[in-house]
Amino acid sequence: MINIRSFKPIDTFSVIKLASITLPEQYNPSLFTFFYETYPKGFIIAELNHKIIGFLVGVKIHQKKAKILMLSVNPDFHRQKIGEKLLFQFIKTIINENIKRVELEVRTDNIKAIKFYEKYNFKKVKKIKNFYQNEESAYTMRLII
Ligand SMILES: CC(C)(COP(=O)(O)OP(=O)(O)OC[C@H]1O[C@@H](n2cnc3c(N)ncnc32)[C@H](O)[C@@H]1OP(=O)(O)O)[C@@H](O)C(=O)NCCC(=O)NCCS
Repeated sequence: MINIRSFKPIDTFSVIKLASITLPEQYNPSLFTFFYETYPKGFIIAELNHKIIGFLVGVKIHQKKAKILMLSVNPDFHRQKIGEKLLFQFIKTIINENIKRVELEVRTDNIKAIKFYEKYNFKKVKKIKNFYQNEESAYTMRLII
């Protein structure tokens, strides 16, 4: 059974490994520690039989706004609602803090992720040119809860 839980520092290596196969950018390992220390409740893990198969990193930007910085599901487990479970857990967390707005950036060509977020009512609100290191553009997507 899928278990959704908070990140623990011991998960760092598995999360970095999963990030390296699912996300196009390479991240410095210390970044994950930084996110965890910034907003521990927003770092959420999906595991199956003690194996990490997905994670979401979200942070609180200010009193009323949160941001999803990373969302990743192991490709072997796509379309099994793991992403949904991670997203819902994050939304539950921010609702408890009375946050009403959540935003994220997504590559304009990442159709899978755009479709995923649109399914949960995120709307594209703007396009940002040269957002990524390789100069790719992003959409900012927003959900008002
Ligand atoms: C985007 C991502 C997290 C979705 O995770 P997932 O666990 O496969 O998604 P879910 O099973 O919860 O999907 C829920 C719904 O989102 C939509 N969706 C998800 N993947 C989709 C795809 N490839 N094509 C079209 N719609 C899709 C569907 O409506 C789906 O419901 P359905 O399967 O009943 O039709 C996953 O594809 C991923 O890790 N991608 C690589 C990393 C990435 O791009 N992260 C986002 C960067 S901002």
